[in-house]
Amino acid sequence: MTQPLLRIESLRVDFPTDDGVVHAVDGVDLEVFPGEIVAVVGESGSGKSVTAMSVLRLLREPPARVSADVLTFRDHDLRTLSPADLRALRGGPVGMIFQDPMTALNPVMTIGDQIAEAVLLHQAERDRRAARRRAVDLLGLVGVPDAAQRARQYPHEFSGGMRQRAMIAMAIANDPDLIIADEPTTALDVTIQAQVLELVRKAQRETGAATVLITHDLGVVAELADRVVVMYAGRVVETAGVEALFAQPRHPYTVGLLASLPRMDIDTDELNAIPGNPPNMIDPPSGCPFHPRCPLARERCVTERPGLREVAPGRRSACHYAEEVGT
Ligand SMILES: Nc1ncnc2c1ncn2[C@@H]1O[C@H](COP(=O)(O)OP(=O)(O)O)[C@@H](O)[C@H]1O
Ligand SMILES: [Mg+2]
Repeated sequence: MTQPLLRIESLRVDFPTDDGVVHAVDGVDLEVFPGEIVAVVGESGSGKSVTAMSVLRLLREPPARVSADVLTFRDHDLRTLSPADLRALRGGPVGMIFQDPMTALNPVMTIGDQIAEAVLLHQAERDRRAARRRAVDLLGLVGVPDAAQRARQYPHEFSGGMRQRAMIAMAIANDPDLIIADEPTTALDVTIQAQVLELVRKAQRETGAATVLITHDLGVVAELADRVVVMYAGRVVETAGVEALFAQPRHPYTVGLLASLPRMDIDTDELNAIPGNPPNMIDPPSGCPFHPRCPLARERCVTERPGLREVAPGRRSACHYAEEVGT
C-alpha cells in the first residue's frame, strides 16, 4: 500500500472570542495520497479554510488553538516542526494557492522578483540569474502573455486573473508534491474562472502533485476531483470517490448539497438549497450537528454523535442511518 502524503487525524481548531470559543474544526480526519486530486466541499463556515491553514500552521497561534492526534506530511510531524522548517515546506514541497492573491503577494516587489525569490529560497546554488529565467518561464507556463515584460511589473499592475496565475506560478515553482488550493477562482469573474481552473489542472499534471482543492463548485468537483471530502460543522461527514459520491451520496447533507446544484434539465430558477443554516460553532447542536436540518433525523441523532465509518469499500459516512440514505 502506498503511504499517504498528508495525514490528519482528529484535527481540532478553536478560536476563543468574546462570545465564547468557536470550535471551527472539530475532529477532522483526512488523508491525501500521492498524485490524487481531493476536493473538499461544504457550505461556507464548515471549516475548510481553517483545516487548510492548519496543515502548515499558518493560523496565528494564539488566538487559534490547534491540536491533532496525527498531523504529518511525509515523515514530518507538523505539530512539532520548527517555524523555519515549516517555512521550508511552504513554497517548496507544499504549494499553497489562496482565494485572494493579494494577501500572498508582496505589493512592493515585482512579480518576477517574487517568483525568483521563491525559487532561490529552495535552491542550494542560489543562482539569481537562473532564478530570474525560471520565473519568466513559470509565468509563461501559467499563461501570462509577454512574460519577460510582465515579470518586471508589480502586483497592482496585474488583473485579478493574472495575479492568480502568478500565485500558481509561485506555488509550483519548486515542483511540489502537494498543492493546497483554497477556492482559487472564487474571487474571479466567470470567464476567467474556467481558465484558472484549467491551469490548476495543468499545474497538477505538470508537477504530478497531490492536490487538495477546496471549492463550493460541484461542477468543478465532478470535472477535476478523484475523491471528495464533504465537510459540515467542522467535521468530515462523507468521503468517497467522485463517481460514487455523485451516483449515490451516503450522507443526508451530501444529498442536500447535490440537490442544490442548478440542473440544466429542470426549468426552474429556484435553487433546491438545504433548508436552515449551518450551526453556530460556539454552541453546535448535540449529537449529529446536521440533525436540525436533516430529513432522516430521529432521537439517536440528537443524543449520539455519529463517527465517520466505512459504509462501503473506500467510502465513509458520519451518519447513523447511512444505509438508508437515498433508498
Ligand atoms: N480568526 C478567527 N476567529 C474566530 N473564528 C474564526 C476565525 N477564523 C475562522 N473562524 C470561524 O471558523 C469557522 C470555519 O471557518 P472557515 O474554515 O473559514 O470556513 P470555510 O472555509 O469552510 O468557509 C467559521 O465559523 C468561522 O467564522
Ligand atoms: Mg474558506
